[in-house]
Amino acid sequence: MSTYLVNGRRYSAEPGPGQCLRTFLRDLEVFGVKKGCDAGDCGACTVWIDGKPFHSCLVPAFRAEGREVTTIEGLAPDGAMHPVQKAFHDAQAFQCGFCAAGMIMTTAAFGPDQKNDLPHALKGNLCRCTGYRSIADALDGKTNIEPDVAGKACGASLPNPFTDAILTGKARYTMDVAIEGLLHLKVLRSPHAHARIVGINRTAALAVPGVIAVYTWEDVPRRLYSTALHEDHLVDPDDTYMLDNVARFAGQRIAAVVAESEGAAEAGCRALDVEYELLPAVFDPVEAMKPGAPVLHDKDVLTSDGNVYCDLQGEIGDVAKGFEQADVIHERTYSTSRVQHVHLETHGSIAWQGEDRRWHVRTSSQGPFAAQKKLCYLMGLKARDLHVFTECVGGGFGGKQEMVSEDLVLFATMKLGRPVKWEWTREDEFLGATTRHQMTTRVRVGARRDGTLTAIDVHVVSNTGAYGNHGSETLAAAMGSPLAAYRCDNKKGAGFAVYTNMLPSGGFRGYGASQTTFAIECAIDELARLLDIDPIEMRRRNVVRPGDNIESIWKEPTDASFGSYGIAECLDIVERELARGNGVAKPAGEDWAEGTGVALAILECGPPTEHRSGAEMKLLADGTYHLAVGSSEMGNGITTAHKQIAASVMGVRAGDVAIVNADTDLTPYDTGTFASTGTVVAGKAVHLTAQALREDILAFAGRHTSTDPERCRLDGDAVVCGDRPIPLADLHAAGTALGHRFTVSRKAYLSPRTIAGNVQGVRLAVHRVTGEIRILHSVHAADIGRPINPMQCRGQLDGAIAMGYGWALTENMVHDEGRMVNAQLRNYRIPAYADTPHTEIFFADTVDSIGPLGAKSQGECGINPVAPAVANALADATGVRFAHLPFTPDRLFDRLTETS
Ligand code: FES
Ligand code: FES
Repeated sequence: MSTYLVNGRRYSAEPGPGQCLRTFLRDLEVFGVKKGCDAGDCGACTVWIDGKPFHSCLVPAFRAEGREVTTIEGLAPDGAMHPVQKAFHDAQAFQCGFCAAGMIMTTAAFGPDQKNDLPHALKGNLCRCTGYRSIADALDGKTNIEPDVAGKACGASLPNPFTDAILTGKARYTMDVAIEGLLHLKVLRSPHAHARIVGINRTAALAVPGVIAVYTWEDVPRRLYSTALHEDHLVDPDDTYMLDNVARFAGQRIAAVVAESEGAAEAGCRALDVEYELLPAVFDPVEAMKPGAPVLHDKDVLTSDGNVYCDLQGEIGDVAKGFEQADVIHERTYSTSRVQHVHLETHGSIAWQGEDRRWHVRTSSQGPFAAQKKLCYLMGLKARDLHVFTECVGGGFGGKQEMVSEDLVLFATMKLGRPVKWEWTREDEFLGATTRHQMTTRVRVGARRDGTLTAIDVHVVSNTGAYGNHGSETLAAAMGSPLAAYRCDNKKGAGFAVYTNMLPSGGFRGYGASQTTFAIECAIDELARLLDIDPIEMRRRNVVRPGDNIESIWKEPTDASFGSYGIAECLDIVERELARGNGVAKPAGEDWAEGTGVALAILECGPPTEHRSGAEMKLLADGTYHLAVGSSEMGNGITTAHKQIAASVMGVRAGDVAIVNADTDLTPYDTGTFASTGTVVAGKAVHLTAQALREDILAFAGRHTSTDPERCRLDGDAVVCGDRPIPLADLHAAGTALGHRFTVSRKAYLSPRTIAGNVQGVRLAVHRVTGEIRILHSVHAADIGRPINPMQCRGQLDGAIAMGYGWALTENMVHDEGRMVNAQLRNYRIPAYADTPHTEIFFADTVDSIGPLGAKSQGECGINPVAPAVANALADATGVRFAHLPFTPDRLFDRLTETS
């Protein structure tokens, strides 16, 4: 047996043949070592070997024998923090925290040269959440947090309550548990975009040592469902089977293999012999809409003919007349690309049967309650028999508003009676997880000479892929707020969500609105230039304002209205800051052109369909509080914000409120953490609950002291009745003696919804020959009401804006006949540190009358105006309109050389 020295402790162990150091360390239960890719691209697995950082997924484990291995858990002795961990703490240089261990292990080894060249030195470490700004702050020694002061929790930049655990490697993400007897599940994915399965021979797979079972479509419940998680399951078509006898996209799961090790499960997948009958495939939604196109789903699934499963149409006013009144009309077709969330923690879940004979599913999900409902339906279970929960979730961005791993692990564990885990690889993510809907939008827009809009007409085709999860809801969002952003009496739209043999699309930050915001904001810019009106002024003249009807293309009244209004202020801020400039000049040389662009977006805070949350709060025996909320924390800062809301109401420190969340056994129901509802719905539930508990305490205190409750007030850890202070601990004891529980729960519903808004300004330089783009100045103003936690709000915007730049400039899933050809992080380029511009972020000074404590949503809306602002700046620089994302150098080169 070999000996390995890890964090100062000796282990006698033998790595498996070919085993990498990352998985070997995790087998030793050193869970601070994470996986984002297993290919050397993300840096989440970074450890030190003899004091030097390495990507442990690239190092054969046996190479570490006789050497000193240090992971995040051993960076500082005895639970203390290394100065870099302390710097990450003070700057809060993380959101989901999944990248933090690798980031710290890399940066803690930096010398002065690396510190002075972060774009180069950090090229091996990716973060999808932060936009790297807070990481730069940490390395710059900045402090972004404020003290936690009783009565002043709301509006303070308080740290994430799990900071210490995340930064020292103690936080437990979905896969960070050791379970006795754990089995591993892997799936074989279809190599074909459309094929019927004639037969699957499992003999060779079952003969692989360690393989326990193989499951195909013949073994699993034949029940149609949708993988999408929503409150109302009817908004998504039930068109999916757990395993099917028809593959409708390349990457669809064909069979599941369960084995004693991941390696055996993978070998079992390779040994499966599948006979396919190839079927004609269609990839372009416009082609898929034509008569005679291959039809993906049978009549029992589809409610409409052909591949269009959802079409939305509407008109307000008279669009034809509106165009007659226009002095200028602009029309163009714009399209957006297929991109993926790339949350650094991949999908995965673990299922087992407890001693209580109940089934338990530990999962990386944005909606454990909605997943529980679907799992009960699929497996024929009662809710009482199934416990679904999350611990730390390493990012989601909408990608985990989907049930894509829980079903098979639960099925397998119910069959085998042993715990089963399925952890997705990065390739699984690219081949089998959902993406942003690719949309093509034709916009026709007319205006009078003074810029007044007279008519808007949009035609949207959304490629929903092989299954319709989120297809109708994203289409509704696409035709909702982007069209409602402008005052215009005449609006018309037609939208179609179309099945094709591409991998399924799903929910993704911005949720359909991002795609049509791109098209409409480009079109408004082009119209402004035709009218010779400044693009900011054009928007100022036409953007909705308080008192306007908030309407897109439907005559029905909406429940959305301005609980506060700051979009005009956002336009002013961006105009001012761009005019001020930041002094960054374009590179020297005649081939560099410079341009400036802006774009705006509004967001109705929450989905148009139902969403609800509950919270429960209790006074504890020592006078502190406990809060239970059903929503998941996935790096969006919601646990911090919820503690702050509760603490504000009780007049205590946020640290005086303990929190548990996202657990079907322990917390009240929550539809899920998605659609910008974490603050405005779950936060509202927390606010209502805390207010009710405060009233309950004051009422009891009044009775206890024979004082009018009106004369009782909370004062930190005491209640003061008249002028008599009573410690809350004493009040709790008195109440308990009388059977009073000091426990309340309240629910919150979505409606009415308020409206947030964002404006992005970009000044860039573009090289006319190489197509290279450099962002010179990036300015963002957000109307998000009163920020509960300004630092976290800014962090959410930093991340959303960085994602917007990725969408605009580098990210693109490239498919050939439905097969992705760049399914690795090194070829699918999310922004690295070097690619991410520093964005100056400002908040409009508003306090919302609808959102809790004056707050609005802010997790999603920051992404929406980024890509169109870049497009508008490119047009300003070159005189050429780039209407199709992404703006990669090769595409720019082609268009610029065409037109030069
Ligand atoms: S997991 Fe090793 S570099 Fe990504
Ligand atoms: S905080 Fe960096 S990936 Fe989430």
